[in-house]
Amino acid sequence: MKVDVLLGLQWGDEGKGKVVDVLTPRYDAVARFQGGPNAGHTLEFDGKKYVLRSIPSGVFRNDTNLIGNGVVLDPVLFREEAEALCESGVDLRQSLKLSKKAHLILPTHRLLDAANEKAKGDAKIGTTGKGIGPTYTDKTSRNGVRIGDIFDNFSEKYAAARNRHLDRLAALGATPDPEELAALEARWLSAVEYLKNYDIVDGEFLVNDLLQQGKSVLCEGAQGTMLDVDFGSYPFVTSSNTVCAGACTGLGIAPNKIGEVFGIFKAYCTRVGSGPFPTELFDETGKLIRDLGHEYGAVTGRERRCGWIDLVALKYAIMVNGVTKLIMMKSDVLDGFDTIKACTAYEIDGKLTDRFPYSIDSDRVKPVYKELPGWKTPMSSMTSESQFPKQFNDYIAFLEKELQTPIVIVSVGPDRMQTIER
Ligand code: GDP
Ligand code: IMO
Ligand code: MG
Repeated sequence: MKVDVLLGLQWGDEGKGKVVDVLTPRYDAVARFQGGPNAGHTLEFDGKKYVLRSIPSGVFRNDTNLIGNGVVLDPVLFREEAEALCESGVDLRQSLKLSKKAHLILPTHRLLDAANEKAKGDAKIGTTGKGIGPTYTDKTSRNGVRIGDIFDNFSEKYAAARNRHLDRLAALGATPDPEELAALEARWLSAVEYLKNYDIVDGEFLVNDLLQQGKSVLCEGAQGTMLDVDFGSYPFVTSSNTVCAGACTGLGIAPNKIGEVFGIFKAYCTRVGSGPFPTELFDETGKLIRDLGHEYGAVTGRERRCGWIDLVALKYAIMVNGVTKLIMMKSDVLDGFDTIKACTAYEIDGKLTDRFPYSIDSDRVKPVYKELPGWKTPMSSMTSESQFPKQFNDYIAFLEKELQTPIVIVSVGPDRMQTIER
């Protein structure tokens, strides 16, 4: 068996959580492969809404869920998330496994995240403040603390990392108040003990054993391709590989074990935090998309910047991920629009290109748009493709031709049921 991968093609928040939940019954296991509590994956069903940060979106309908080695885990936030789920009747102790090789986010990682952002001043990234960057930095500089370490000389390993962080914080002029730090640490250490309630496993063996047994696995991405540390709008990115290759390194899966790659995108585009965004709208249309799409961060509540769909960036994302199937989200947000725009090329220094450039600095890159007629039909209660209005079918045909990839699912609302397969 091979694994299928589902990942975001834009700047995150495409609707990954919803679709993973929709697809979950077709898989034996769901695994998160990168990111951490910077993610906020929203699921809605039976009139209830859940936002998951570190826990795979398969937990509501699947018995095997893994937090893979590529994830960075904050025990405090994990505990809050797990306990809230438990209160709503989802007991994860049997179904959720944690990889020993996943790195831990320490309280001082979060302090460093804030201090680094402050030091950058106007050039700040606008991170989620969850300590993601400093934790991945420790991982690659070989200073990290992993979940597996909690069983072996943990106090020593923790103290070494913490003291190194305190030196760095002092250099940044951000030494924490000792009492506040002590309180953070006490909560964190108690949450580390809480982790021991879960099956802490060699995730790479778990996944490969499942495949060997003919079981199917869905890998759930976090963030999106435009936030990938190699291929995104660097340096305004996250610190992990959000692309498909991240599923290999973040779970211990060989590249030849990748099956379908589901690429998920919104019918328009959003971004949270700083960084370039060529199709961003600063006008009433952008505001309308934000209001109709409820484009506010699932975790931070921050306003999401909104703009038209960017096919130059999408084509690039499809290429670097090897996307085999596309999933289009939130087209219902555009239901009332007279016309819809899609960026088909960039004009850079007077020249047109449809190849995603090294820099998408907003001052230099001018989007070139194709205007399409809107479908002007409410679609949120539609249940089958046969109900699609002609202009909507034309819009899909246009996208499929541009992107050279089939759109297999159209999502017309946040609920699990508002999902139409083609
Ligand atoms: P994720 O991070 O990729 O899982 O996406 P988020 O959960 O951060 O953001 C997606 C938001 O859009 C959530 O509030 C979802 O409930 C909502 N959503 C998902 N699909 C649709 C859709 O097809 N239509 C509408 N209107 N909302 C959707
Ligand atoms: P999901 O999985 C949208 C953005 C932050 C910031 C940049 C770096 O819900 O799609 P970080 O805290 O990772 O160092 O922040 O990345 N960012 C996201 N934007 N959705 C996400 O996750 C994001 N995770 C990080 O806003 O610009
Ligand atoms: Mg999100």
